[in-house]
Amino acid sequence: MNHTRPLTATQPTAARRTLTRWIAGGLAVAALAGYGPASAQTPIVLQFSHVVTPDTAKGKAALRFKELAESRTGGKVRVEIYPNSQLYKDREELDALRLGAVQMIAPSLSKLASLGGGDFEVFDLPFLFKDRAAFRAAVNGPVGASLLGKLEPHGVKGLAFWDNGFKVFSANRPLQSVDDFKALKVRVQASRVLVSQMKTLGAQASVSPLANVYEALRSGQLDGQENTPTNIETQRLHDVQRHLTVSNHGYLAYAVIVNKPFWDKLPADIRIALEGALHDASVFENSIAGAENTKALEHIKASGKLTVHTATPQELNQWRTALLPVYKEAQGWISVETLRALDALNGPPP
Ligand code: SIN
Repeated sequence: MNHTRPLTATQPTAARRTLTRWIAGGLAVAALAGYGPASAQTPIVLQFSHVVTPDTAKGKAALRFKELAESRTGGKVRVEIYPNSQLYKDREELDALRLGAVQMIAPSLSKLASLGGGDFEVFDLPFLFKDRAAFRAAVNGPVGASLLGKLEPHGVKGLAFWDNGFKVFSANRPLQSVDDFKALKVRVQASRVLVSQMKTLGAQASVSPLANVYEALRSGQLDGQENTPTNIETQRLHDVQRHLTVSNHGYLAYAVIVNKPFWDKLPADIRIALEGALHDASVFENSIAGAENTKALEHIKASGKLTVHTATPQELNQWRTALLPVYKEAQGWISVETLRALDALNGPPP
């Protein structure tokens, strides 16, 4: 039996990871020294790092952006994509972006609170969005614009929101009633709202990068996790869990962000072409994310590797009630304006 996280062409060994970082680091230094964007002969290199596989909606959209960016600039821009935490894990990629070691990333909104402040965690509130359209209305309106604006003082420019979808829970025991969460060690992303969510359910939250989750579940360091079906399937998490509950209790989505000094220094025609390429890649991403998750859930069910339970309306009502204190606690770091704006779009909290 294979006891390691399955390796793919995009999942390098430690040695390959070090080498890839070294090469990318060298390119970044060259770009900062003026041999990148400033040179007329050599293409401008835009390195795009992300933490999921190329066959997710985010991975496919990154590739679409590359194709469009390279063709529309007539080869003046080369986009290098580093998927699946090949270069940097969750927190590292934010630091790398700010330092200019990569120029574009698309982290989950949950992970952006460390940079742009607590309002980014509003999207983590349990059962906040009744559907995908409610999420899109939030990010396409003043809330989305205000959030992206909070990144600029940190040398980061937000260009687009990309969808993933609703999260489900998996664990090594069935999760139906709130009591089933008692004392479970559950991986969450680095978000105080998500930590509060698990604590409120009686579980122990463990914050860790996505790249570490497979091994932590396999080895028993963790008992469970929450994610979208596409992330569960592509990270092979269903291979190391016994039960999955379709709860759709929270939402996962991304902001596509760039290193602001890099972006601002681009020649205007190139920047306009890249903005157009990103716009079209974003339309593509947001159009496929829902179907990708539906397909992934079907694959997970068909794999027969774990028992899949769809939470009943009664179970979900019990969870909703149990999770109400999270809304109160989150008022400690999410602004009243942002909470009110989302209430207005969604109706009041559950
Ligand atoms: C992602 O979808 O980019 C990662 C989400 C996670 O860390 O669970």
